[in-house]
Amino acid sequence: MVDIALEGRPARHVVISGASSGIGQATAERFARSGDRVTNIDSMRPLQPFPGVYWLPGDVSDWPAMGPLLDDAGSIHGPIDVVVANAGISIRHSVLDCTEPDFRRVLDVNVLGVFALWREAAIRMLGGSGGVLLATASTNGVVGYPYYADYNASKAAVLSFCKTFALELAPVIRTGAVSPGYVMTPMQEAEYTEAMIDDLNRRIPLGRHTTPAEVAEAFYYLASPGASYLTGQALILDGGELAGGTASGHGTSLVTPVQPHAFVSRRDHDL
Ligand SMILES: NC(=O)c1ccc[n+]([C@@H]2O[C@H](COP(=O)([O-])OP(=O)(O)OC[C@H]3O[C@@H](n4cnc5c(N)ncnc54)[C@H](O)[C@@H]3O)[C@@H](O)[C@H]2O)c1
Repeated sequence: MVDIALEGRPARHVVISGASSGIGQATAERFARSGDRVTNIDSMRPLQPFPGVYWLPGDVSDWPAMGPLLDDAGSIHGPIDVVVANAGISIRHSVLDCTEPDFRRVLDVNVLGVFALWREAAIRMLGGSGGVLLATASTNGVVGYPYYADYNASKAAVLSFCKTFALELAPVIRTGAVSPGYVMTPMQEAEYTEAMIDDLNRRIPLGRHTTPAEVAEAFYYLASPGASYLTGQALILDGGELAGGTASGHGTSLVTPVQPHAFVSRRDHDL
C-alpha cells in the first residue's frame, strides 16, 4: 500500500456516505488508519465498527436532512475537509421491466444523494478553508451496460456534476470521482452468481474484480496534497476493461488464456 505521508498536517475530518459496507467501509478504514476522523453517514448500522470511524445514521436521499446532519458531524469532529459521496444502489432489470418507482429511487439515492451532500458540504467548506469533494461514480457512467439503464444514467450524472462543481468552486474546493469497474462487495455478491463473476473475470484484462481496498487507495490519493492540481476528473479503476471495445478480446489472452512467461521463453528461444 502506498503511504502518502501526512506528517506535519493535522488530522482531517472526512465525511463518507455509505461507509457501513463495501467500498465506503474500506475507504473509511483507509482514512482512519492514517489518523483522520471519519464520519460515516449511512442508513444501515456498520457491518464492522472501526476505531476512528463514527456512524451517523442518515438517508442521503433526504435532501433537507443533509445540512443538519453535516452540522452535527461538524460539531462533534470539527470542520469538514473531505467528503466522499459513496452511498449508492443498483437494481438489475431490463429497460422493459424498469418501473417509475425503481427509477426514481435510483436517482434519489445516486444522483440527488450525491448532489445534496456535496452542495451542503461545499457551503460549509466555502465558509472555512476549502476542501475536497469526492464521489463514487462507475464505469457504468462512461459506457452503456445492459440491465442498468437507470443506474448508468445516475453515474453519468455524477461524472457530469463533478465537472460543474469543479468549475464553480475552484480554487477553494477541488472535486474528483473514482469510477470503479467490477468491485467484489456485498452489492456485487447479491446481484451476480458465482458463474457470472467467473465469466466477468475472464473478460477483464487484469483477470479479476478490483477490491474495495484498491478503490479506497484511489480516494486516499485524490484527497491528498499529491492530487492538488487535480479537479473535475475521474480515475477509472477497471483492470483495463474500457481500454478496448467489446470485440477487442479476439486473438488475445482474453480469448485464449496465455501465460505471460510463455512469451518470454519463446523470445529467448528465437534469439
Ligand atoms: N460493487 C461494485 O461493483 C461497484 C462498481 C462501481 C461503483 N460502485 C458504487 O460504489 C458505491 C458503494 O457500493 P458498494 O458496492 O460498496 O455497495 P454496498 O451495498 O456494499 O454499500 C453501499 C452502502 O450504502 C448504504 N446506502 C445505500 N443507500 C443509502 C441511503 N439512501 N442513505 C445512506 N446510505 C445508503 C448502504 O447501507 C451500504 O452501507 C455505490 O455508489 C456503487 O454504485 C460499486
